Amino acid sequence: MKKIFEINKTIKPFKKVIKVEGDKSLSIRWVLLASLSKKKSIAYNLLKSEDVLSALDCIKKLGSKVKFIKNRCEIIGTGFNYIIKKNLILNAGNSGTTSRLMFGAVATNPIKTTFTGDKSLSLRPMSRVTNFLEQIGAKINLTKNNYLPVSIQGTQDCLPLKHIITKPSAQIKSSIMLAALNISGKTSLIEKQATRDHTEIMFKYLGIKFEKKINKNGQTQIIINGPKEIIAKKIHVASDPSSAAFFTVGALITPGSNIEIKNVCLNKTRIAYIKILKQMGGNILVKKVGKLSGESIGNIKVKYSHLKSIVINKKLAPYLIDEYPILAIAASRAKGVTKMQGLSELRYKESDRLKSIHENLIASKIDSSIRNDDLIIKGSHEQLIGNNKITTYDDHRIAMSFSILNLICKKPLKIDNLRCIEISYPKFKQDLKSILKNG
Ligand code: S3P
Repeated sequence: MKKIFEINKTIKPFKKVIKVEGDKSLSIRWVLLASLSKKKSIAYNLLKSEDVLSALDCIKKLGSKVKFIKNRCEIIGTGFNYIIKKNLILNAGNSGTTSRLMFGAVATNPIKTTFTGDKSLSLRPMSRVTNFLEQIGAKINLTKNNYLPVSIQGTQDCLPLKHIITKPSAQIKSSIMLAALNISGKTSLIEKQATRDHTEIMFKYLGIKFEKKINKNGQTQIIINGPKEIIAKKIHVASDPSSAAFFTVGALITPGSNIEIKNVCLNKTRIAYIKILKQMGGNILVKKVGKLSGESIGNIKVKYSHLKSIVINKKLAPYLIDEYPILAIAASRAKGVTKMQGLSELRYKESDRLKSIHENLIASKIDSSIRNDDLIIKGSHEQLIGNNKITTYDDHRIAMSFSILNLICKKPLKIDNLRCIEISYPKFKQDLKSILKNG
């Protein structure tokens, strides 16, 4: 009989308490909202990753002043009256959230801006957001009708409309919400499927009044009666649950390990992965400790576990979208066949993640297949040899997910780009090293 989970000498169990960096979604939202206030806004624990720096670059070009003093970031914004320059070029780098949310903010201003981005962002669809902004009155030019560069000629006379969002996307919702702040009258939006609600929580925390209700058919409706002024307020950014997911899975798959991750944002729309991992047999304990600037936070304790396979329904996709790469790593160590259903949206992320997860699992000798938009992974408890190449396609979450798989490989994986991790979690390598130091 084969030995199960034979611990190779190169595989070190770890026992650690860590704190991951600030949340990316929260950090970018705060940067944009702070830029729309005229007073000084202060954030603690703002994530200083490349995506957030892209957001900061954009608002600086629009006239905001930004200062960092240790763990504190100060922004003196412009309000909605941006400094008007002829056709301002705003480079959003790799950041989908920065570009799409900013579209909404500039659309209600009589200025012309052109958004650009890196190679990856230039391949990602933008019409899903601009379609709504064109309806309210902005004149928008997209490259090949869907891509960056995108030029926006905004107007002060945007219309307060009722929008129905069929594609579940927090970025679409948030872009319209930012526009609505500067539109006279009632902008209403209906989400067919609820998405991450950080924008609503931050609006509430900043005292921006709006209505949110659940309609008879279970759909969420948000109504903003603009214009609204943003009053600056101090904010503390909770730690990123998507970053915590890497070490959660790391501990689950590395024999003998346990980890505690402190002060993680426990927003319900962000921690569906914990429920999934628990259903897979993961020994995970979540303890809520309170609220941080409107968001629930708590500690996540994880112990190495014998995982079993699961079928993940496509309805959960909006709540797991950033965690599929690391869930795929968990599935590769789970007994049985895991099916992740309805992953079409994964094709439009920083890389075609359906393809990049699958290809790299295969390269790592893990049984994986794609059927339509489903990812099917046959897990195994056998020792992984490693030593194979991992192609990240410059996608931070692919690089981090396979860095976690690397923990249990006999020989190191040859990951082609670790630099891209700077996009969302600059201290990842440092945290990983600290975990492995002294077991
Ligand atoms: C984000 C929303 C999600 C997510 C992205 C961040 C946000 O995208 O994948 O990493 O901050 O609103 P969608 O809104 O396209 O689902």
